[in-house]
Amino acid sequence: MPVTSLLKVEFSPQGVACGSLEAIERAAAILTDGGLVAIPTETVYGLAGHALQEKAVSLIFQAKGRPSFNPLIVHVRDVSQAKGLVADWSASATKLTEAFWPGPLTIVLPKLPGLIPDRVTAGGQTVALRVPSHPVALQLLRAIDFPLAAPSANRSEALSPTTAEHVWKSLEGRVDLILDAGPTGQGIESTVVDLSGPPRILRPGPVSSAEIEAIIGPLEGNSNEGDETLRSPGMLARHYAPRAPLRVLDDPASIRQSDIKKKGVVWIAFDGEDSLPEVATIFLPKQPSEYRRSLYAALHQADEMGATLILVSRPPEGPDWEGVRDRLSRAEWRQ
Ligand code: TXA
Ligand code: MG
Repeated sequence: MPVTSLLKVEFSPQGVACGSLEAIERAAAILTDGGLVAIPTETVYGLAGHALQEKAVSLIFQAKGRPSFNPLIVHVRDVSQAKGLVADWSASATKLTEAFWPGPLTIVLPKLPGLIPDRVTAGGQTVALRVPSHPVALQLLRAIDFPLAAPSANRSEALSPTTAEHVWKSLEGRVDLILDAGPTGQGIESTVVDLSGPPRILRPGPVSSAEIEAIIGPLEGNSNEGDETLRSPGMLARHYAPRAPLRVLDDPASIRQSDIKKKGVVWIAFDGEDSLPEVATIFLPKQPSEYRRSLYAALHQADEMGATLILVSRPPEGPDWEGVRDRLSRAEWRQ
């Protein structure tokens, strides 16, 4: 078991501050040697390892307790590095990456045989790729000459981390280094779109299906259809959930009922909702991207508060709320 160190990294939109370059060099050295580093991305923190080293990839699965059937996203520094890993780069891939990379969109394409270990892709013939836009992740990817396999930096089945503290609590002793760049900006995991066949969303996220359709035309089916889990095994139930049971609430007034208003209930409400005496409440912004940014931190906080039941006011309809609605329904589904 490694001893975990944590290094703070200062950055601006232009890149990593001079005083923090040593942290990047340290991370690059660990990754080159096959070790694991938790890195900030604009979505959630990732547990990164050398994507072309079988041993490093095995360590990722081990550290997370992740089942081997669930493939990893490969993080690259640019389109050209991505193209070197796939068998077939489609016109849709060009359009979508021009529109959304670097950024919170993961594309799935047929993989080039013999380069990326089968462990990364869980034995499958496709690979998931993304260029993160976080200045720290980008600078690290530019400091090394190999791609990084990086699932979210949490133990399997737990909530994704949006701060270095979340990572520390979940993976201390299982990762060599955590780069702490403060809370992440997007707050939920990237949108995953499968381009290996007729384009379709495997996991909704910060980039909405409407935004994708505006670039490449209509998508196949709907991410909530039943056969989706066959193609994106990580989308099986038991993901994206806090420890406590979670319920999405249509009518906050129903909390007043005695069976709901019991000890240990934490209510995640919208700013401006009337607070209820004796109900621990976390208020989140009504603006969709701000809500998204704070949601996981609120769920982590509810768990820390010892919640026995988390109630979440139902978010509105509409494309801006797609990712949030997806994660809440998965968290609820588990119960
Ligand atoms: O925002 C994100 O995507 C974060 C940051 C760290 O980049 N990463 C992340 O990774 O959420 P993870 O491993 O927690 O989720 C990856 C998702 C899983 O649902 C997995 O099944 C799916 O992507 N996936 C990976 N490779 C795939 C493939 N070849 N085909 C279909 N789905 C794939
Ligand atoms: Mg995950």
